[in-house]
Amino acid sequence: MCNTRHKMKSLQCLMFAVFCSVAFGDTVVLTNTGKEDGSNLKLFTEWWETSVFYQIYPRSFKDSDNDGSGDLQGIIQKLDHIQDAGIDAVWLSPIYKSPQVDNGYDISDYRDVDEIYGTLDDLKQLLDEAHKRGIKVILDYVPNHTSDQHAWFQASLKNDSVYADYYVWKDAVIVNGTRTPPNNWLSEFKGSAWEWSEERQQYYLHQFSVAQPDLNYRNPAVVNELKDVLTYWLDFGVDGFRMDAVFALFEDAQFRDEPPSGDTNSGPEDYGYLKHIYTADQHETLQLIYDFRDLLDKYSANLSYPRIMMTEVYSDIATTMLYYGTYSGSRKGAHFTFNFWSFILGLQKGFTSTQLWGSIYNWFNYIPAQYTPNWVLGNHDQSRVSTRLGPENVDALNILISILPGVQVTYNGEEIGQENGEVTCEQGYDPQAIKNCSTFNQTSRDFERTPFQWDSTVNAGFNEGAEPWLPVSQKYLETNLESQNVTGINSHYNIYKQTLQLRQSFRNETGYFVLLSSYANLFVAERILSSNNDDYVLYYNVGDEAVTPSKYIAEANATVVIRSSNSAYNIGDLFNYNGTLLAREAVLVRLDK
Ligand code: NOJ
Ligand code: MG
Repeated sequence: MCNTRHKMKSLQCLMFAVFCSVAFGDTVVLTNTGKEDGSNLKLFTEWWETSVFYQIYPRSFKDSDNDGSGDLQGIIQKLDHIQDAGIDAVWLSPIYKSPQVDNGYDISDYRDVDEIYGTLDDLKQLLDEAHKRGIKVILDYVPNHTSDQHAWFQASLKNDSVYADYYVWKDAVIVNGTRTPPNNWLSEFKGSAWEWSEERQQYYLHQFSVAQPDLNYRNPAVVNELKDVLTYWLDFGVDGFRMDAVFALFEDAQFRDEPPSGDTNSGPEDYGYLKHIYTADQHETLQLIYDFRDLLDKYSANLSYPRIMMTEVYSDIATTMLYYGTYSGSRKGAHFTFNFWSFILGLQKGFTSTQLWGSIYNWFNYIPAQYTPNWVLGNHDQSRVSTRLGPENVDALNILISILPGVQVTYNGEEIGQENGEVTCEQGYDPQAIKNCSTFNQTSRDFERTPFQWDSTVNAGFNEGAEPWLPVSQKYLETNLESQNVTGINSHYNIYKQTLQLRQSFRNETGYFVLLSSYANLFVAERILSSNNDDYVLYYNVGDEAVTPSKYIAEANATVVIRSSNSAYNIGDLFNYNGTLLAREAVLVRLDK
């Protein structure tokens, strides 16, 4: 009855669906916390639980002083755009002092702003201006490693009595008279995770580039230092942190070799060659994450709203959930840990509606009921969603993640469907990619980091003509905010904005359901609001051929509220179930009561 070909109006089906056993792609009724038994309806009461977070990649956002690099004053100039789009909070990728070996993820002073970006005063101004507009500000926090130029590392190199154990140092192992690293651990950026220091006559650990030595979390002084950094920025007035690479905080105390993963696509130098049972997701790492949360909760106790943390982890989905907190809920971790599974790791170009269904269901299936789901399409480490999954899917995916319950995360440019830029190895900066130009096109993350395309003037309005640090994509004449704003009722940007406006009415709901079905190429997701029974249904044809919705779904009176840019529907049109949906067309309708 509630199987794939139900012809009932979905609200009716809803009452039956809880009794059905779910097969992949079947209709399934979920509460807003992703549960199937109708329990655990949850009121999302805290500000962040229904927020849209917008990741700004500062160096590529807006260059206010025309020196080729984006800066804090540039972000301030664009706050009106961010507000216009309906965004609740921005997350800035690192703006701290840094030699920029890994574009700011190599920090040489945790408490100061790099001159590329401006000054602490500029940051203060940015916070004030954002807060005036009701926008919260999240900073990146990079606890696993510092820059090798950080004063702590420079002192550690010299075996300074205070800083000697701030990093992970080990003696060499001599094999047949040759010096070799202490074990087989690999860097995520390829090759041994150990680098020899002539000065100290020991190896130091770097899970990322050689210029990013890992901090030694088994030293309580390090834990205290990094907690103090959190407090410093909380005192400064920030609203929370995106925590970088936290899976890597602790390593095995016995420094045991890691076993091979068996991944046949990885060579012995590749990170994927080993199974990271001793360098990732260690028990002590999770405890520290829970301690960071305690610190934030204590700090927030006397404030009017909580300061939050979101963690970056690419571990398997069950392990990833532990960063939210324990499964029992006895200890809390991140307010949310990024969901890379549904739209990044779990989907590929040419995906079917059943795969999309499964990708979403998977996250719901794993997340413990007490935590808040989140939906992420991309970031500065992933090929842009337009390029990765196809520009023709961008509107549908933006609408979809907006009607799914919980947090929505947008990487700057996704609101206009910006695609990857064109960058050569010589122009590139990504440290892991420029090591080997012959594989640059496959490995570089520079493509998704090219400047934001504001308008059709010189350098896409990123600046006034100085050579940008990474080239502006040639696609800017077709794809830019200004033209989408002015001429395009049907543009990616206007669709994004309309969706965020609609999303406002989903706030403060005592509970609602998402109903997901997949019928051949037709993907259907439903969101029912509890207070007034408003019932929204997204019809999304993921295939290459037109489909007729009435083949699968009972006809009902429904009004189009949002549609993809390739759709012939207008807002306010009656939706025609007997008509066709074009390839990749998406229509969000409200069922008439
Ligand atoms: C994850 C960041 O997102 C990435 O850009 C960086 O290279 C690594 N962590 C190392 O900090
Ligand atoms: Mg570490």
